Amino acid sequence: MNATIAELKNRLEAALVSAFGADLAGTDPMLVPTSNPKFGDYQANVAMSLAKRLGKAPRAIAQEISQQLQIDDLCEPPEIAGPGFINLTLKPAYLQTQLTAMAGDSRLGIAAVKEPKKVVVDFSSPNIAKEMHVGHLRSTIIGDSIARILEFQGHDVLRLNHVGDWGTQFGMLITYLREVAPEALTTADALDLGDLVAFYKKAKQRFDEDSEFQERSRQEVVRLQSGAEDTLRAWRLLCDQSRREFQVIYDLLDIQLTERGESFYNSRLGQVVEDLDQLGLLVEDQGAKCVFLEGFTNREGNPLPLIIQKSDGGYNYATTDLAAIRYRVQQDQSDRLIYVTDAGQANHFAQVFQVARRAGWIPESVEIVHVPFGLVQGEDGKKLKTRSGDTVRLRDLLDEAVERARADIEARLVAEERQESENFIDQVAKTVGLSAVKYADLSQNRTSNYIFSYDKMLDLKGNTAPYMLYAYARIQGISRKGDIDFTQLGSDVQMVLEHETELALAKHLLQFSTALSEVEQDLFPNRLCDYLFQLSQKFNVFYDREQGVPVLNAPEPARTSRLVLCDLTARTLKLGLSLLGIQVLERM
Ligand code: ARG
Repeated sequence: MNATIAELKNRLEAALVSAFGADLAGTDPMLVPTSNPKFGDYQANVAMSLAKRLGKAPRAIAQEISQQLQIDDLCEPPEIAGPGFINLTLKPAYLQTQLTAMAGDSRLGIAAVKEPKKVVVDFSSPNIAKEMHVGHLRSTIIGDSIARILEFQGHDVLRLNHVGDWGTQFGMLITYLREVAPEALTTADALDLGDLVAFYKKAKQRFDEDSEFQERSRQEVVRLQSGAEDTLRAWRLLCDQSRREFQVIYDLLDIQLTERGESFYNSRLGQVVEDLDQLGLLVEDQGAKCVFLEGFTNREGNPLPLIIQKSDGGYNYATTDLAAIRYRVQQDQSDRLIYVTDAGQANHFAQVFQVARRAGWIPESVEIVHVPFGLVQGEDGKKLKTRSGDTVRLRDLLDEAVERARADIEARLVAEERQESENFIDQVAKTVGLSAVKYADLSQNRTSNYIFSYDKMLDLKGNTAPYMLYAYARIQGISRKGDIDFTQLGSDVQMVLEHETELALAKHLLQFSTALSEVEQDLFPNRLCDYLFQLSQKFNVFYDREQGVPVLNAPEPARTSRLVLCDLTARTLKLGLSLLGIQVLERM
């Protein structure tokens, strides 16, 4: 939490106790930032909630709290408004000390958490031999940002790629591989199967039209499960090929992941069944072993079963997730388990979490959450497709974003009559294109569907990556123009905060840690985007010729003070964007 808020809360709590006695110790003062600067910076709403308990009018309660409130060093005298809001306005002198401290700290005043947690973020998680689709892209971008934010706060994060690398589909794939590249099964270390998705389709076609092929596929599944050498080798070749394709995307997007696919839990599935049985949770239903779920019913209103082991002895997606939960809790010693997938899997996770809880595998102290997100849609509001109606390949989608960003920068260079090197153009196109895709995704409330529009995400105006990158580059432009080294501004700067736009910018700068804490708690990265967007807007107003103040041409000490505000804005943007997986450009 932001140090200012924590301090204000303490003071309010103390005032509550002095006004109404020790009974009120620990009462939440209900302090929130105001929605309008007219009402100051923060408002405490506690007076309304105490009216009944204290048998007094809220305004009178607010009055008594204000009288006891010792807050002179931080705020102007409190004001009481409306039914009993206590409005607080920070004093410029207080803001000045806070800003100076922020400027002198490489972490911008955000201390690492005192009690770091062990957190698993399960994200990306595509399936072997299948296309990594836009849903996986969303999971990758959102999961990576959540991981980055938690890491920055000092948590110990395990970024897990729960790839779908096991299951009956491998019987079919390996059987087909034996047909088309028999030599690979005994000799090859690596294999180029070309397009694995096309390979999958052809294998599926063979499977669908030939019953003898189906039989061989089934035997291959058995061989895989029993660990037959040559079958395992074929399986590994297929996984490696997929892995290389996924890695291209991860490299482009700068994503770090530890792969721990479904196959990792293979040897632990039997234990899941055994233990659920021991606990008396397992029921046989038409040959399948299930747990009947609470709160999930079928159409007839009967409890829905979660199948743990099929009648043929095979296991399910859910079984693997149960084994994974146990491993993450027991072996990894996680305090928090986060799963980033599309909202379509909400039921799956609710069911698996319920069974794991009932089995006692999730201790009270462990938090387990599904972080769902909506669909990616085309501009027509339908599922994202290419012009010819095919599913969009991620590689192509990212390449196109970069190409369009290149066209934009090239047009801008012509319009501005600027000359830049090829290298510069490449760098700008790549950074802008990829950040635009990431930012467009992250800036949406993740639970809604999001419309993928190159035009919108690449727009220099609006809540977009280019807008934010531009604000950052503009500030660096100030340092170039004035020949100023921001790092040499000194730590004993006399801050002058007089103009309305200076105050607004300064106050917003000091809210950074609050924005991060919010994401830490509720895992909505769009809150960080909103914060950064507002920061850029407040900066642009502050720097605006008409509405704002002069910077380079201001007299001292205002000049240096304003340069510090510029520098702090740039550093906050750079750090904040890096937590979204976005790199800044010094020039663009
Ligand atoms: N492979 C799955 C899919 O493509 C996502 C896995 C998510 N993680 C998990 N532990 N189930 O839909």
